[in-house]
Amino acid sequence: MDMLMHGNIPREDDEESSFCRSEELRLEPASLFAAFYCLGAKSSLRRFSSGGAGYSTVSSPKCAASSPEQLKSAREDIKELLKTTFCHPILVRLGWHDAGTYNKNIEEWPQRGGANGSLRFEIELKHGANAGLVNALKLLQPIKDKYSSVTYADLFQLASATAIEEAGGPKIPMKYGRVDVTGPEQCPEEGRLPDAGPPSPAAHLREVFYRMGLNDKEIVALSGAHTLGRSRPDRSGWGKPETKYTDIKEKRDEDLLVLPTDAALFEDPSFKEYAEKYAEDKDAFFKDYAEAHAKLSNLGAKFDPTEKELSESMKQKIRAEYEGFGGSPDKPLQSNYFLNIMIVIAVLAYVTSLVMN
Ligand code: HEM
Repeated sequence: MDMLMHGNIPREDDEESSFCRSEELRLEPASLFAAFYCLGAKSSLRRFSSGGAGYSTVSSPKCAASSPEQLKSAREDIKELLKTTFCHPILVRLGWHDAGTYNKNIEEWPQRGGANGSLRFEIELKHGANAGLVNALKLLQPIKDKYSSVTYADLFQLASATAIEEAGGPKIPMKYGRVDVTGPEQCPEEGRLPDAGPPSPAAHLREVFYRMGLNDKEIVALSGAHTLGRSRPDRSGWGKPETKYTDIKEKRDEDLLVLPTDAALFEDPSFKEYAEKYAEDKDAFFKDYAEAHAKLSNLGAKFDPTEKELSESMKQKIRAEYEGFGGSPDKPLQSNYFLNIMIVIAVLAYVTSLVMN
């Protein structure tokens, strides 16, 4: 196998490594995530690399479906994978394509689609929009085999958020505990993900993303993920072998791919407002991207424990804390008695000290 290297990092698709010749592919992964909108960005990319203060992909206690310890270890394994194999883009695309089938107009799970791990089944992997994503599944399967309590739905989203962070993007405020669908019959029908070249790109983007409950700002921010990776003629039919996504705003030319839906971001008046802003202000882009990515990663997901169950357990914890010092959240008056007694004691002590003097 004639392996072209990305620094020392083989690509996710070594077999296709003759595609890897463009200038951008020689960037270190940690600097990849800022190019799409932020050509004029002045602040350091490294500020946003993993390990700094801020959000953590495994910070939430909501992980009964996937054990927190296993999630942490799986995250470390994903980081290792990203160090040895340049697969950041395809992991992000995998997470997005699992979540992006969500239909907010359908209440029932899993019919409503979304982040439920259904993309592991062949029937869905064979949808036209998912061409090539079987490679991402193959990369993650050994990690799944090692950490059996981590669901596919969580693993896909964990991998995507970790890839963004490891590529120098923002930390994503993730939560975990997504439940998996159990069989291929629970996969969504084909056609829920967006087309790259529809007759009216802006209208099409709105139709698809509004169905997911996302708005114009989120569409533009999320499209910034196209900073990573590129398009392959043998997968989506878009692009040329040597082209990749790049700084679409300023470097537009024949050799560079601009999907019609990406071009619309600088043409449609509402999208343009955000696209221009993100081109000027990397911090704004990273902040909005992180929020939108987290929202995307939760679409349609069923969490275990559910939010309701979780708030019940939180309630119990709060009750125990109150009762520890004689109060109760259900009987707030008791804690007022406690406060009143403390005030009376303080006043008495003050008066006594005055009298003594
Ligand atoms: C806005 C509507 C979108 C359309 C029409 C679209 C379409 C596409 C297409 C056609 C490709 C090329 C796939 C290939 O040939 O391998 C691609 C790649 C990619 N997309 Fe999107 N996408 C959209 C939104 C998103 C979103 C919301 C994300 C993530 C948040 C995303 C992340 C990616 C990534 C990372 C790649 C590169 C994959 C690789 O290099 O292997 N896309 N997209």
